[in-house]
Amino acid sequence: MQTNRRIFSTLRWKIALAYLVVIGLGFLIINISIMEIFEKDMIKSKKLAMQKYAIEVAQQISNMYSEGDPDIIFEIQEIADDIAQKEGEFTRILILNNKGVVDYDSYNVIGPEGLLKRNLIEDIPEIKEVLEGHQIDAKDIYIPGDSNSFKRVMYAYAPITHDEEGIIGAVIISTSLSSTEKLLSRTRNMLNLYSAIISISIIIISFIISSFITKPLNELTQGIQKMSQGHLDQRVNITGSKELRQLGQAFNIMSEKLENLDKARNEFVSNASHELKTPLSSMKILTESLLHMDIDDPAIYNEFLTDIDNEIDRLNAIITDLLSLVHMDDGDIYIQKDEVVVKDLILKSIKGVQILAEKRDIELTTTFSDEELVVDGDEMKLQQVIINIVDNAIKYTPDGGKVWIEVYKGLDSAIIKVTDTGIGIPKEDIQKIFDRFFRVDKARSRSTGGTGLGLSIAHKIVLLHDGNIHVTSKEGKGTTFYIELPLKA
Ligand SMILES: Nc1ncnc2c1ncn2[C@@H]1O[C@H](COP(=O)(O)OP(=O)(O)O)[C@@H](O)[C@H]1O
Ligand SMILES: [Mg+2]
Repeated sequence: MQTNRRIFSTLRWKIALAYLVVIGLGFLIINISIMEIFEKDMIKSKKLAMQKYAIEVAQQISNMYSEGDPDIIFEIQEIADDIAQKEGEFTRILILNNKGVVDYDSYNVIGPEGLLKRNLIEDIPEIKEVLEGHQIDAKDIYIPGDSNSFKRVMYAYAPITHDEEGIIGAVIISTSLSSTEKLLSRTRNMLNLYSAIISISIIIISFIISSFITKPLNELTQGIQKMSQGHLDQRVNITGSKELRQLGQAFNIMSEKLENLDKARNEFVSNASHELKTPLSSMKILTESLLHMDIDDPAIYNEFLTDIDNEIDRLNAIITDLLSLVHMDDGDIYIQKDEVVVKDLILKSIKGVQILAEKRDIELTTTFSDEELVVDGDEMKLQQVIINIVDNAIKYTPDGGKVWIEVYKGLDSAIIKVTDTGIGIPKEDIQKIFDRFFRVDKARSRSTGGTGLGLSIAHKIVLLHDGNIHVTSKEGKGTTFYIELPLKA
């Protein structure tokens, strides 16, 4: 049992792991795509904004620059601070002359190191194009930062134009993108965290749901294992989905049938042993009496031996009946089907029992409302059925009674109806009379040579012919048996 639970739980783990991989991969792909789109969009709008700033600055300082106003440094510093505040990023503004040499640097006021008087035309190829009047888009690039990392920065360019002199210089605005990068990485981390939380929640939920499935499966497996060990009284109580409940019900029906079958088998074996033992015990007593009694009278010997002979006949009858039942059970009895005319079948069958009826002054009659009915069957076996039932009718009818056989056509069957004016069968026993060894009155049946197997055999033979047999009876009034056999097609 432990092993099963383990198998199921490792199975559940494997399934959960597989789910985790699939869901995780899915989220990863989705997150990467989302972040890519998000990042592109952010950088694009940033570029546009910086581009706009560059053009605005160039316009704003154009006059001051052409006039050589030294306050321009404060002006660009102020603008740089403004932009830095708006964008949340460090911003630096450079003013270059028309040769590409840095004239003003907003950063230079704060730090000692600067680019003042440096010609940037070699370092930044875009400057040349700007000075030539080309429209240049803002660029974002990675530059080496402290230690091994890279800093992402953005450059935007704009020419400084003067109404009369044309292009007199260029503006470069450089902004760090560290806040943007931080925002991006924060968003990325959030997305990943949420994905992980959702994935794990899915796994936990599916784990819980799967327990609804594995629990009843465990219960069923345990039931089956116990049954295979011989405990056939297993029943499961499965709740949950309709399919599982149906499985549980099917299991219960199966185990109940098996249990009943097992009980019936035990009962049969015990009944059979008992039935066989009875004549044996009688024979034992008879032979012991013969051995130990001091008798000279041959007539007494004769009587005892006749009794023993009768018991042997009984044993023989029981064993013959048992064997034919067992053969039919195994299915190794072969029903040789032939055309059987029902009228002939009846007339042949009652020949033997006719004498019995006459002896007991019982009137045995037959009526055929259809003389031509033909069924497909094994004539010898069918005779056995008729003999058994008519024999019962005579046996369980007091002297001077009546037994009559009627043959008529049903829907697509021949019906043989055997009625007697006998002792009848108690209501509560009607269900049992086809059971093996069942007799309403054991002593009476035995005294008339019955084995209690006749009706079981008859029932079995009729079933093997795809027919039906049933009975109605009234205690003290009489009994009617209906044998229904399908007509030959
Ligand atoms: N026609 C009948 N009238 C009354 N009881 C009957 C009749 N046929 C069968 N039975 C009852 O059914 C029992 C089973 O019949 P059967 O299997 O032929 O066994 P048996 O005749 O050997 O006793 C009989 O013992 C008897 O109690
Ligand atoms: Mg009988």
